[in-house]
Amino acid sequence: MSYSRIAGTGSYLPEKILTNADLEALVDTSDEWIVERTGIRQRHMAAEHQTTSDMAYEAALRAMDMAGVEPSEIGFLAVGTTTPDLVFPSTAVLLQERLGLPHVGAMDVNAACTGFLYALSIADKWIRVGDADKALVIGAECLTRIVDWKDRGTCVLFGDGAGAVVLEASDEPGILSTHIHANGEHVDLLRSRRGISTGFDFDLHNGGVTIEMKGNEVFKVAVRTLGRIVDETLAANNMDKSELDWLIPHQANLRIIAATARKLNMTMEQVILTVQNHGNTSAASVPLALDTAVRDGRIQRGHKLLLEAFGGGFTWGSALVQY
Ligand code: UT7
Repeated sequence: MSYSRIAGTGSYLPEKILTNADLEALVDTSDEWIVERTGIRQRHMAAEHQTTSDMAYEAALRAMDMAGVEPSEIGFLAVGTTTPDLVFPSTAVLLQERLGLPHVGAMDVNAACTGFLYALSIADKWIRVGDADKALVIGAECLTRIVDWKDRGTCVLFGDGAGAVVLEASDEPGILSTHIHANGEHVDLLRSRRGISTGFDFDLHNGGVTIEMKGNEVFKVAVRTLGRIVDETLAANNMDKSELDWLIPHQANLRIIAATARKLNMTMEQVILTVQNHGNTSAASVPLALDTAVRDGRIQRGHKLLLEAFGGGFTWGSALVQY
């Protein structure tokens, strides 16, 4: 088998919705500002009892159902998340037990918003070297737990959710290539200031674990970096941008997405946009968008998809996929 291919997709958004009007009551902002600067109209928020693994579980069931794959067939599990249920065991290990997977390798990948693409890249290689025949790849986040609800610069942006894909070994393409990168030089532009070894406070918000972002500066680096990674991805596949059917971008900001589409000479009709419905769900956003367009029939077998993401670290990544 020389490829891994996407056999099924699934996603989950929690029931509770927070609209821009709800946020107007919390901070000095307006629906007009949020829509104009970000494209976001609403975001979903996990219920008090709901965790990242709860949302990942639902997305995984839906992906396995679409793929027609039983949990017993899964040979590897990778979960992109920055908001795990626990410090340990990992979210992936909690899901191994809950989904009833065999005792296969199960790991979390923390690459912020690029987490799903990192996880996809690892699982793709796992299958291509023959260590697994089928893999489950998930991006899941409960970001509203680490949002500073007094900071209008960030609290309007983020939401909760999960997306998943089942990969399977195949003679036909498949994932054509994946590309992942990191550069810790600008750590101060987007981060959570505290972790375990830096002096974690059990009161989350006093501990400084909330998201801090210099949005405007992140914006500029994101546009430049995503421009470079789409070039890198096309060059690696000796492919012209006109051959792409769909752009499936990280859903952080409509203006960043539009800039990448322009760079690819793609119309906004060729871009899968979900940011308006759930805001920035970090590692969950690419598989959420993918699942949306697979289920509504826009993405068809044989279509060429460019997936990309950029996030805290900085990390960035892409995948060229023949669906
Ligand atoms: O997913 C990981 C990667 N993250 C991203 O890619 C996010 C990248 N950054 C962005 O999406 C945008 O920079 C933001 C949406 C975060 C901000 O948009 P912006 O156009 O870059 O705005 P800005 O930060 O330059 O702020 C412009 C003005 C400021 O006021 P003054 O100084 O001009 O008076 C802000 O204080 O907008 C103000 N502002 C707001 N006003 C109303 C900032 N947040 C808000 C708000 N409501 N929520």
